[in-house]
Amino acid sequence: MVGLTTLEEYIIRAQNKFPGATGELSQLLRDIGLAAKIISREVNKAGLTNILGAEGSENVHGESVKKLDLFANEQLIYALNRSNITCMVISEENEGVVRLSLDAGKYIVYMDPLDGSSNIDVNVSIGSIFSVYMRPEGIINISEQDALQPGVKQVAAGYVLYGSSTVLAYTTGLGVRIFTLDPSLGEFILSHENVQIPEYGNVYSTDEGSYNFWDPALKKYVKYCQKADEDTNRPYKARYVGCMAADVHRTLIQGGIFMYPDSSRYPNGKLRLMYECNPLSFIIEQAGGMAIDGERRIMEIQPKSIHECTPVYIGSKKNVEKLIEFFEKEGRHVAVPSL
Ligand code: AHG
Ligand code: MN
Ligand code: MN
Repeated sequence: MVGLTTLEEYIIRAQNKFPGATGELSQLLRDIGLAAKIISREVNKAGLTNILGAEGSENVHGESVKKLDLFANEQLIYALNRSNITCMVISEENEGVVRLSLDAGKYIVYMDPLDGSSNIDVNVSIGSIFSVYMRPEGIINISEQDALQPGVKQVAAGYVLYGSSTVLAYTTGLGVRIFTLDPSLGEFILSHENVQIPEYGNVYSTDEGSYNFWDPALKKYVKYCQKADEDTNRPYKARYVGCMAADVHRTLIQGGIFMYPDSSRYPNGKLRLMYECNPLSFIIEQAGGMAIDGERRIMEIQPKSIHECTPVYIGSKKNVEKLIEFFEKEGRHVAVPSL
């Protein structure tokens, strides 16, 4: 296959550059890649599944039909359990932690198995998001508390986007790579290496239906985005898929800003710190962008619980810096991220 690099090959080659590497993180990423292919296949059949039977009924094979987010959760947990590398999984779909290979597993994985699930029924993009931490050394029976590590401690993170094509993006802290699934080969093929987010973009992305619940700084910033100005390429375009993985992927490629703020409706925002905001912040920072919660860098937040929410403002450096100016003008101090 001249000129094509598969995800598997790429991961193995990257691992070979580090002579002391055990290959465990590489295996974990390959396991996620396999689960992603299985989920992608099922996502493409989602409409058909509805025809063949709703949740709770049996499909033509006599299997019970599962909601796609539960299916994705099962597939990812199954894939992560195969290699005894992961000791604990924390998923949006499980209230408590899921204990896997407690004595052998070296990694803790957070995940949102199906992000943007309200898009499923209307055939719009959905995703899966994951975030990997080291298990603290010297502890045999690790607890939920040991999994509460800030985003700066992530050793890998990524997402899969089931869109017009299926793409998988990941980082291990050495830049961002994107692979595109070739369905005819059944392989993720390297499509973007060393991805850089544009320094500035003219797209803003937020649920503007919540405008009346926002604080004044954000209202003013969005009015700024809408104002015509040739020099800064305004008015910006508004784009909102309602799937953070998709909205952040577009922002990564085209530049701009994605925001899910705190508001009188959602005092802590709505998106989850550990399996939505941290992994996507790691990707965006690795591509040269910024991610804040309105006060500080997302990845420096010390988590208090596994499912906690946070406001998030993420995207091109210049766009996030402009938003910070609006926060500061309204008396909200933002500690500029120490990258
Ligand atoms: P999930 O499907 O995992 O619950 O996540 C949906 C999230 C996120 O992906 C998206 O950005 C946001 O919820 C959309 O929320 P609104 O419907 O409030 O706009
Ligand atoms: Mn989600
Ligand atoms: Mn979800």
